[in-house]
Amino acid sequence: MIPTLQWTDAGVRFLDQTKLPLEETYVLAKDYREVAEVIRTMIVRGAPAIGVSGAMGVALGLLRSQAQDVEQLHHEMHLICETLAATRPTAVNLFWGIERVRHTVRTLSAQPGATVVRLQQAAVAEAQRLYDEDIAACRAMGAHGASLLPRSGSVLTHCNAGALATCGYGTALGVIRAAVERGHQLHVFADETRPYLQGARLTAWELLQDKIPTTVLCDNMAASQMRAGKIQAVIVGADRIAANGDVANKIGTYGVAILAKEHGIPFYVAAPWSTIDLATPTGEQIPIEERSSREVTHFHGRQITPDGAGIANPAFDVTPARYVTAIITERGVLRAPYGESMQSMRSASQSPSPATA
Ligand code: MRU
Repeated sequence: MIPTLQWTDAGVRFLDQTKLPLEETYVLAKDYREVAEVIRTMIVRGAPAIGVSGAMGVALGLLRSQAQDVEQLHHEMHLICETLAATRPTAVNLFWGIERVRHTVRTLSAQPGATVVRLQQAAVAEAQRLYDEDIAACRAMGAHGASLLPRSGSVLTHCNAGALATCGYGTALGVIRAAVERGHQLHVFADETRPYLQGARLTAWELLQDKIPTTVLCDNMAASQMRAGKIQAVIVGADRIAANGDVANKIGTYGVAILAKEHGIPFYVAAPWSTIDLATPTGEQIPIEERSSREVTHFHGRQITPDGAGIANPAFDVTPARYVTAIITERGVLRAPYGESMQSMRSASQSPSPATA
């Protein structure tokens, strides 16, 4: 399995995704500030991976703390959580992961006999639990979603919603993997995903590791491939899904969704329940990260736009729910109207998460 991130005794170890596909190198974050920097600089990226990294960052911060008592530890936890939460605004999983560990520590603190060491141990255990849960959720999404994909044909994906974006297996790519494991003959079109090239660099790299045939498309090529009948389904991940089913995902996803609808192609979203944000009513309220203009003005360190040109670099866009054929979660497959189906799936679940319950 691709080692996206890993808790170790020395700190949190990350596969450096900024160096892929040419170099497979690792970065060790030895304290929570370094974890925050790893998230901010996209050494780790992808909503579920960011969520677990945030949780591990809190655990690491508490573990390294010299706090003399529980009250002091809580004071430090506040600063640790604020620092990690300030890294990337769109993926709700980040706040969910941080909150899961904070909630565990607060709950245990209220019990008799709480000590700094016990709280530190509980934080680490909770972060590790999130890691295991994430892999299990990806496997479950694969099991729920595999039959939605064609028995044979091509599937288009945008950005990287794979093992690299999670703790393993992937969301959208997990569904593709599960379908292939069940005998579907699939070929994948990976949108290159300007400007950061997650599709060209990461999706192509990880699918080829699994020997799943993959063709990289520049983002402006999807329309003609769909018109030519070469794409039978689209499947993408998500950074945040609002209570009405609007989906925030990597910039360009909205355009792909419109194209899919125009060509009568199903458009699926695969995301864990931790990506569903029932506290945000519609996509309008989802904060969209604006990244450095340098990602657009420069390519491999070389300037490609004239000095003085205005530059926009929103990292995500919102696809309205009406374009989404189904949302695949670890709890099952959601269909429109999403407001209702999400509420009933939430009620049916035994253990709603603290951040989204
Ligand atoms: O900016 P990134 O690379 O973190 O964006 C990632 C995406 O948009 C993914 O599609 C999304 O996080 C889902 S990952 C399972």
